Amino acid sequence: MAVGKYTKKIKDKYLKTNPALNKKELVMIFDKGRKKIVNQIMQAWEKPYMKKLASIASSKGGNVLEVGFGMGISADFIQKSKKIKTHTIIECHPSMIKNLKKRYSKEIGSGRILLKEGFWENVTNQIPAKSFDGILFDSCPLDKEVEFFQFFPFFKEAFRLLKDTGIFTYFSDEPLKISKKHMSQLHKAGFKNIKFQVCNISPPKDCLYWKHQTIVAPIIKKI
Ligand SMILES: C[S@@+](CC[C@H](N)C(=O)[O-])C[C@H]1O[C@@H](n2cnc3c(N)ncnc32)[C@H](O)[C@@H]1O
Repeated sequence: MAVGKYTKKIKDKYLKTNPALNKKELVMIFDKGRKKIVNQIMQAWEKPYMKKLASIASSKGGNVLEVGFGMGISADFIQKSKKIKTHTIIECHPSMIKNLKKRYSKEIGSGRILLKEGFWENVTNQIPAKSFDGILFDSCPLDKEVEFFQFFPFFKEAFRLLKDTGIFTYFSDEPLKISKKHMSQLHKAGFKNIKFQVCNISPPKDCLYWKHQTIVAPIIKKI
């Protein structure tokens, strides 16, 4: 599969796709000519993994940034943390934004949740450096036909946005350890203290994007 970059065309197409959401999964349905292409974005089996990522991102309390709302599983765990003050969520898709506003109208009203609508690539530059005590990054590839390493471009921004004492974590896409490829991208962004935990999970057979029984939960600090 070719490796690609997000163009305006890919972003526009993603925003026009229709998500189908139920308790089990979130899928995006793309039109390709007369064919319908189904892209699994998120499934409920990720719950223990999302709980782990949310606990890492919330572990310092304070102000937490989350990129990608999806089914809101990790957002629910972050919200349960009594230690956090604010929870900023960046989400681009209008349907997810609608769900988020409905689910958290009270928290948005009180200022505990700060919603930033749009692609993080167009939004984070409005946020001052060292704003967050924790960051959880879980976006997804915007297109099924091309391979995207959606987390790599964010590493530099994570470093800029994180306080010196903060913790960054992301959907790692790795089953057992942080590979040299990820390590080198993290070091390049400036991170020096890179650890992880291995989370046990049980994806069902119909899950197309994860076939392993484990997945890495990164615990990344500046120093
Ligand atoms: C895998 S889901 C997130 C799942 C979430 N952690 C949960 O627990 O349900 C990915 C989400 O990221 C959003 N997204 C993808 N690319 C994005 C980008 N560049 N900026 C902001 N949101 C993005 C998608 O619309 C989708 O809602």
